[in-house]
Parts: sequence; structure tokens; C-alpha cells
Amino acid sequence: MMKIFVGKNYEEMSKIAAKIFIGAIKEKPNIVLGLATGSTPIGLYKELIRAHKEEGLDFSRVTSFNLDEYVGLSPEHPSSYGYYMKEELFDHVNILRGNTHIPDGKAENVEEYCKVYDEMIEKAGGIDIQLLGVGENGHIAFNEPDESLSLGTTIVKLTENTIEVNSRFFESIEEVPKTAISMGIGGILKAKKIVLLANGEKKAPVIKELLNTDRVSTKFPVSFLLLHPDVTIIVDEEAYNG
Ligand code: F6R
Repeated sequence: MMKIFVGKNYEEMSKIAAKIFIGAIKEKPNIVLGLATGSTPIGLYKELIRAHKEEGLDFSRVTSFNLDEYVGLSPEHPSSYGYYMKEELFDHVNILRGNTHIPDGKAENVEEYCKVYDEMIEKAGGIDIQLLGVGENGHIAFNEPDESLSLGTTIVKLTENTIEVNSRFFESIEEVPKTAISMGIGGILKAKKIVLLANGEKKAPVIKELLNTDRVSTKFPVSFLLLHPDVTIIVDEEAYNG
């Protein structure tokens, strides 16, 4: 079942999402969170940092797994998702660094590493809440529209569209890696609860299609969320109305 909340603007969207995450962490202090990067969750992370600083929200027993990382980038690279997570969340709350997991963009044997990543999630007891953004082309994590989609964590080729859209986080478009490690659709659907955020008019066509379709398609990866029993979609008015 999909629940939808519409916030007036980005700030309200972020606050609605934060309420869910804050409540969940309080209810289960040793929660396993699935985390995302990109522009969308920054406001949510700011709210979580505020809750930690002002209300003592405790991350000391929280475990996290990120959705994806660019192949070839170490967490020291300013455009890597490892770096982003430190800047936007980890450095500002009391999460233990050893409890945070981000796919290793420098893994020597990527295929083997992908299996290990899924095993680590399983050993941690599975993901309690998975945070997702969505691409303008309907991708979730880096599961790009394709003839088929991977179930488990895998190495993916980024589409031209994604490379272009994400080049804003790099000095030039040439610097954007062409491949990434990404959790698969099956891994995402294993999460007990999914929270998808989308803001801004560029996301409006994707949200509209998602809310109006009763078909799943690998050409529209976000549609697989229709198979999950507990999905909450939180958008701002621009993403809702276009
Ligand atoms: C990020 C991720 C991506 C983004 C999506 C939207 O970890 O997995 O799927 O969620 O590309 O990105 P933004 O939020 O920058 O619009």
C-alpha cells in the first residue's frame, strides 16, 4: 500500500520525513536504516542533525547502509557518496563510523564485494526503513531503466541522462564515473518499510506516472515499489502538481 503526503514546500517535505525517521529511531534505537544521497534528502538530514543536537536523538546504536557509490571513488573524493554522507549527516550525529556502510567504490573484486554487501545487510537483520530519492527517469538507487533489473547489489552502467544530471556534483561532466555499485531492486524491496522523497517540478512527471500506473515495468524502476506492502511517498507541491 502506498501512502502519500504532500508538503507545501521542500522544508515541509523534509520535516514530514524527519518525523517518521525520528519516531522510528526512538522506537527502535538499534534500527537499521537504508540511506540515500543526492539533493533530495539534505533537508531531512538537517532535521535529523537538529533533533540530535536539540533533543538528544541518539544514533549510537543505529546501523546504516547506503544505496550506492560511484566505482573508482574513495570516500575522500569530494564527489563520492561516502564524502557526502560524512558532510551531510555522519559528522554531525553520534553514529558510530563502524556501523555505517557505503558500497566500496574501490573494491578490488567488485562482483564478490556486491555479494558481501548484501550479506552484511542480512547479518544486520535487514533494513528497517529504506530512504529513497527518485531519478527523473524513474531510477531508484542506480537501477536505471533497462530490459531487466538486478535483484541484488551489482555494478551498473549509468545512463547519459544520469551522468548529465549528476555532473552538478563534479567539476566537469568528464569526471563523472560511468559505473556505480548499487543495491538492486530485490534488496530495496526487502526493506520492511520504504520512504520515497521527491521535490521540485522536474520530478512531477515521475510522481504522476507512479501514482497513476497499475503496471510494473523495468523501464520504470520506481514502479516496482507498487509490489511493496509499506511505502510512504512524501513530496512537495511542485512534485505533486508540476
Ligand atoms: C542516491 C540515489 C539516486 C537519487 C536520485 C535522485 O543515493 O540512489 O537514486 O536518489 O538520483 O537524486 P536527487 O535527489 O539529487 O534528485
